[in-house]
Amino acid sequence: MQKSKHEHINLRTALLRTEKPRHQFYDWDSLKWLFSHKPKNLLKKNKINSKLLDAVDSLRPWEKCDDKWFLNSLTKDGIHGFRHACRVSIHALSFALTYDKKISKDELEAIMFTGILHDCRRKNDNADSLHGIRTAEWLTKHANILPVHVLSFLPAMKFAISVHNDSYQNIKKRKDYKKFKFFVDVIKVADAVDRYRFPRSDWWFSQHFIVLPVSTQKMSFAFDLAAISELLFFITKNNSKSVSLAWDFLKQKKQPYLNSRILTNLYNFK
Ligand SMILES: [Fe+2]
Ligand SMILES: [Fe+2]
Repeated sequence: MQKSKHEHINLRTALLRTEKPRHQFYDWDSLKWLFSHKPKNLLKKNKINSKLLDAVDSLRPWEKCDDKWFLNSLTKDGIHGFRHACRVSIHALSFALTYDKKISKDELEAIMFTGILHDCRRKNDNADSLHGIRTAEWLTKHANILPVHVLSFLPAMKFAISVHNDSYQNIKKRKDYKKFKFFVDVIKVADAVDRYRFPRSDWWFSQHFIVLPVSTQKMSFAFDLAAISELLFFITKNNSKSVSLAWDFLKQKKQPYLNSRILTNLYNFK
């Protein structure tokens, strides 16, 4: 049977094939591949700036993301699901703070929710070209999930979500791009840096597809946040905990849950 033939294929092998799995989950071999292929140009240690520390520690996106917003548990737990949503929201906070030094608390929170929500109505982890538009339409009908004080940013949030999976070549033709440029550019780059989550280096972040410049420090943080939170989910099967513990690890320079010897072994895996 064709099904049994594919049962033991790991994620990396599956993603290297022409026909990709509809839902994508990590396995130990693919995680080991990811940890042992951290690009040499990325930094070994992360230094998170104090504004980002304050923003993430007070907003705690992993507590704001709701399982019910996803279509089902396969999409929630998959590679575009809950953890990706939280990581994109953390990166979005980081880029927003870097590129608008005077950003208000409410706008920052709207940026965080845009990151959390941008992929939530995806139907699968494979090609789903309408998921941005679908998610924006869903948000129009479910705007009551948002705190009242971010609602003035709803048009920007919806526009950014609706175009986030489109190319800049197309986005720049849209009349509203100029109006909502900040949200679009921040979400596009935040989504792009989380491409380090894929166990395929040719899919990783490239400055080529986005407009905001990304520092080596931000790329390094994105790689580590993706790798550690995916590893933690593989162990705990708890989305919220995986992201919060990965954040704690990167923030505190110590691992409160994962034994540092295991992590070192994974990093040094040959
Ligand atoms: Fe997307
Ligand atoms: Fe995404």
